[in-house]
Amino acid sequence: MKERLKEIKQEALEQIEAAVDEKKLQDVKVYFLGKKGQITEVLKGMGKLSKEERPVIGQLANEVRDEITEALESKKSKLEQAALEKQLKAESVDVTLPGRPVQKGGPHLLRKVIRDIEDLFTTMGYEVAEGPEVETDFYNFESLNLPKNHPARDMQDSFFISEDLLMRTQTSPVQARTLRQHEGRGPVKIICPGKVYRRDTDDATHSHQFTQIEGLYVDEKIRMSDLKGTLNTFAKHMFGEERNIRLRPSFFPFTEPSAEMDISCKICQGEGCSVCKGSGWIEILGSGMVHPNVLEMAGFDSNKYSGFAFGMGPERIAMLKYGIEDIRHFYTNDVRFLKQFHGV
Ligand code: PHE
Repeated sequence: MKERLKEIKQEALEQIEAAVDEKKLQDVKVYFLGKKGQITEVLKGMGKLSKEERPVIGQLANEVRDEITEALESKKSKLEQAALEKQLKAESVDVTLPGRPVQKGGPHLLRKVIRDIEDLFTTMGYEVAEGPEVETDFYNFESLNLPKNHPARDMQDSFFISEDLLMRTQTSPVQARTLRQHEGRGPVKIICPGKVYRRDTDDATHSHQFTQIEGLYVDEKIRMSDLKGTLNTFAKHMFGEERNIRLRPSFFPFTEPSAEMDISCKICQGEGCSVCKGSGWIEILGSGMVHPNVLEMAGFDSNKYSGFAFGMGPERIAMLKYGIEDIRHFYTNDVRFLKQFHGV
């Protein structure tokens, strides 16, 4: 039996040494020290031993068991250490590698232009107002002095959703909505940015969806000269102090008189060039004195109150200001295009 115990010890130590992972080590432990393990097998035969031999073999068996246990423990901690080192190595970070540049986003150019215009007008006491993009025929047309079958409706090809609902073709319905909310009492001083929709074929200067900014100022004794002064301030803020403006007679059903505002051409200083098509002037926006019918329909006394309104397209403003030749750049969102305006 002594021999057998020595053999077991020898075998166990060899197998422990050879174990490559914790699973193997566990198998070895069970094989030698488990309930049905080799040591137990030896101890089962103790009954056949003499009284003198028994304690000797018993002690030897204990010693062998202790040694095997110790060897298992030390191998186990070696394996754990090795596994940890392997993991650390795999997860190590080389802090000397060059970093990857972070792609930073920024506000869209159109958003910046709109914000700039909003900021200018809010410093002049205007409030920002909004309205729905799906609009009723009443607010988009009728309340703006454009009854059904009015020929001027042809100026704005529309996306109708039903007989009475359409995608708004202009931001002017926000005027009508806001005026009504004021229940006949001025002043009303608002700026309304938002998306508008028209049934246009997309090309370099037309888009089925674009943005507009509407301005409205209604109070007692508002005159055309107030409109002109306001537009002049806007034009110089947007395009530079050296620019001049002119108002050219025009027609909108909701303003009377109506005027289109032009700014002097920056390229030729008014001499005439290809950008201004030889005229020396560039058209910027539509405007006029709010038609008495619009005021009355919204519950304002047109004998007491008067006002002006204007509407512009931020895309057009941005195109002129930054020399952008195609309106489609604003919505195709090519980052190479967008990136150029991060700093402006
Ligand atoms: N709503 C007009 C358009 O889209 C612009 C405009 C607004 C004209 C306000 C006059 C007054 O053409």
